[in-house]
Amino acid sequence: MQVNGQAYRSIWLAADGVGVEIIDQTQLPFRFQVVRLDRLEDAAEAISRMLVRGAPLIGATAAYGLCLGLRRATGSQALAEMASRLIGCRPTAVNLRWAVERMLRCLLPLPEEQRLAAAYREAGRICEEDVVTNQAIGRHGLGLISQRWHEKQEPVNILTHCNAGWLATVDWGTALAPIYAAAAAGIPVHVWVDETRPRNQGASLTAWELVAAGIPHHLLVDNAGGHLMQHGQVDLCIVGTDRTTASGDVCNKIGTYLKALAARDNNVPFYVALPGSTVDWTVHDGVAEIPIEERSEEEVLRVQGEDENKTVRTVAIAPAATPAVNPAFDVTPARLVTGLITERGVCLASRDGLRSLYPEQGQ
Ligand code: MRU
Repeated sequence: MQVNGQAYRSIWLAADGVGVEIIDQTQLPFRFQVVRLDRLEDAAEAISRMLVRGAPLIGATAAYGLCLGLRRATGSQALAEMASRLIGCRPTAVNLRWAVERMLRCLLPLPEEQRLAAAYREAGRICEEDVVTNQAIGRHGLGLISQRWHEKQEPVNILTHCNAGWLATVDWGTALAPIYAAAAAGIPVHVWVDETRPRNQGASLTAWELVAAGIPHHLLVDNAGGHLMQHGQVDLCIVGTDRTTASGDVCNKIGTYLKALAARDNNVPFYVALPGSTVDWTVHDGVAEIPIEERSEEEVLRVQGEDENKTVRTVAIAPAATPAVNPAFDVTPARLVTGLITERGVCLASRDGLRSLYPEQGQ
């Protein structure tokens, strides 16, 4: 996507073909800062500290992290240790494990001296495929938006949560891909952007993306969505997901579940956009089986913002003695999801729905 007239992806190979460059998302929307990763540990830190975040992007970063690690050691034992270091960075998004396991499947059968070059090739393929996949998600989601536009002949109001835009993937995004496709097709869209406490990915990242793309939007506090739905101001919700079960339960940023409940109560369609790599075919009951990342209470007790002197500061918002809890994700049961928008089409959020699009996943 474009940033100040220049095309960017969220991760790319540096000009020397060795290092990897990313956009430091902890600095947005205030500073656009590119950071270079040279060691596996840099990639692991970037994932844990959320310089990069979003399920597909942390997978792509881990894939390149393995390339950086292989520059120092190429043995199978070392590779296994690197893989578990990267997979352990964040527990919920399955794309991290998916990307690392895909790299291992490609690398382990090879002689050690071939592994480094093969790793860069495979990490590059993961990134390229992510872009194509998200464009396809955009095309399939566009059909839903376009249908609503033909029904109402007024701008289509779409509510989204967290950031599932190009910053969360390699390019285009998942939930935002249909919105970008609709805007490109000339369909008037307006986006309700949940701020997404505690880290405010909606306010700092989704809003930033939409400003850059010139797409009309308003930011709202996380608790306002239900009210807007009661007053007919939301035509559809589209969110992303960090892990979807084989039966269609959707794990996404904390607060997604409450939006799905409000959507159901108000007959607002609730769609989830995802690449096939986000489905965990080994998991069937999302609430019982998906590990939910618990992040630092500091993220809840403090907020980051820019003051009138353009200095970025973090300030406390609660008494110093108050403890906090910070579950980073929640699970929306399949029964609350109207449909899944994937790169292969739109399906019901159910075992049969998913199998109709991914028959190779068998029983
Ligand atoms: O904690 P984050 O910012 O990594 O969480 C990201 C989300 O929850 C996104 O909605 C999800 O990864 C889908 S992104 C394409």
